[in-house]
Amino acid sequence: MSGSLVIAGLGPGAESLVTPEVSDALALATDVVGYIPYVARVAERRGLTLHPSDNRVELDRSRHALEMAAEGRHVVVVSSGDPGVFAMASAVFEAVEAGPRPWRDLDIRVLPGITAMLAAAARAGAPLGHDFCAINLSDNLKPWDLIEKRLRLAAEADFAMAFYNPRSKSRPEGFARTLAVLNEACGDARPVIFARAVSTPDEAIRTVPLTQATPEMADMRTMVIVGSSTTRIIERAGAPFVYTPRSVPA
Ligand SMILES: C[S@@+](CC[C@H](N)C(=O)[O-])C[C@H]1O[C@@H](n2cnc3c(N)ncnc32)[C@H](O)[C@@H]1O
Repeated sequence: MSGSLVIAGLGPGAESLVTPEVSDALALATDVVGYIPYVARVAERRGLTLHPSDNRVELDRSRHALEMAAEGRHVVVVSSGDPGVFAMASAVFEAVEAGPRPWRDLDIRVLPGITAMLAAAARAGAPLGHDFCAINLSDNLKPWDLIEKRLRLAAEADFAMAFYNPRSKSRPEGFARTLAVLNEACGDARPVIFARAVSTPDEAIRTVPLTQATPEMADMRTMVIVGSSTTRIIERAGAPFVYTPRSVPA
């Protein structure tokens, strides 16, 4: 029997945001591989082996999944959100490219999920309604100079920006530098959305002007969305709507 490898996104947290095709793949899996908190979201059942592992072993985890698929097992590698957004799909393909030639002929599929950026944007309104970019603020896998260059160019191009991995305990200074760069490069009070633990019981959404944004407002469970110069706020009772108009005047 030939095996298979599915790389699946579990969405931002809520069960209702897991797509039906991901649920179907999990129902057929013999093995689920992934970072500990993501594997913990998969229900145990007879015939299914869970393989949780630490965060920093993406390539080992990918090779393990590929080896099991090559042995004829039906393996699902899980990520939060979408597996192609700062997540496991790239790691698996890196392992395929560097691995034994037969791995290239395995039945490998990527199943999309709702990425945190889109779940967060939807909570606020439509801040990504015009051109935007997404930047991973972690400097674990790239130099800080490159992050800062991309921030400055994104500000110059007047993109709305979505930031993943904004601030961890091991690198608390990066997000403070991000805010300093943006205040300097944007020079205005455009809205910044801090969307924490979207679609989980811990969800908290807060919108402040860039000039009042502080590093402590973000952690590793937060998506940060910075509006462009055209992003608007509709005040009302409770949380405001934040949206970016579809057009920019010529
Ligand atoms: C390594 S990235 C993985 C992104 C994931 N593949 C996705 O598509 O959402 C982890 C970052 O995603 C963001 N994130 C993931 N789930 C979130 C949620 N429920 N609410 C807010 N941000 C979330 C946070 O910025 C977190 O640091």
